[in-house]
Amino acid sequence: MQVTRGGETLGATIEGLDLSRPFSPDEFDAVVRTLGERGVVRFPAQELTGRQLADFSARFGELEINVANAYQEPGIPEVMILSNMIENGRPVGLADAGQDWHTDMSYSGTIAFANVLYGIKIPSRGGRTLGATEFSNMHAAYEGLPAEMKRDLEGMTVLHDFNKFWEMMRREKGSRRPPLTEAQRKAKPPVSHPIFLTHPITRRRVLYANPGYAVRINELPQKESAQTLAYLFEHQLGPEYRYAFHWQEGDVLMWEDIGTIHNAVADYGPDEHRLIKRCQVMATRFHEEG
Ligand code: SIN
Repeated sequence: MQVTRGGETLGATIEGLDLSRPFSPDEFDAVVRTLGERGVVRFPAQELTGRQLADFSARFGELEINVANAYQEPGIPEVMILSNMIENGRPVGLADAGQDWHTDMSYSGTIAFANVLYGIKIPSRGGRTLGATEFSNMHAAYEGLPAEMKRDLEGMTVLHDFNKFWEMMRREKGSRRPPLTEAQRKAKPPVSHPIFLTHPITRRRVLYANPGYAVRINELPQKESAQTLAYLFEHQLGPEYRYAFHWQEGDVLMWEDIGTIHNAVADYGPDEHRLIKRCQVMATRFHEEG
């Protein structure tokens, strides 16, 4: 197993590890260490069934089963299908997942630890691959905050609402998803988390607020909360914190969700096919601390 750390703020490649097979505790520890240090890890040239993807992912924590999501691998509901492909007149997968900056599951009481995505079809045009996944580094964004802001916001909490991203997709991205029903909103009520968390691998502080779901800093008056969130959203997307991952078919990409935010770049057309299988690992084995 060989680990290559990229020169950018995030990203590493691990070669020589076949994710379809069990691996040793030392190898597991090295993957976790790399994930903590680099946030985003690529495992190239993998050949996995949906079951093998789920088994690999489940080593890091419980897997989320999204009951509202129709796009699941048959018989393996922990594996979600992301795709813009249509087969026999029906969509193969969820076509517009994650197409703006967010952190998965920040709107949930138990937050996400990591995502594991397996790239099966990746669109390209003129020799350049499309449909990159972009990331921003929340360890570095925390460190880059003014000292007085770190001090003043310490101990405060942020309210995260699933409906914020949903409505943004309908309003700004032409998504055809219908509004959430009252019952769906009740099933996913807004939840609060500390604005700064201690990362479970690095034990360092991270900024845990994201433009996709964060709606309010609970301890501040409304106007000050809106101004502070606007500042944080701009700050956390500074070019020095950013990293773009360009997919190749056969890549498994794993990222941790506590110290990064991400964005799926929708720069491909309906005939440029993208097919990705995805597992959502919850923070049940690796827990954040407030
Ligand atoms: C996601 O937000 O999980 C989707 C990322 C991607 O499709 O690149």
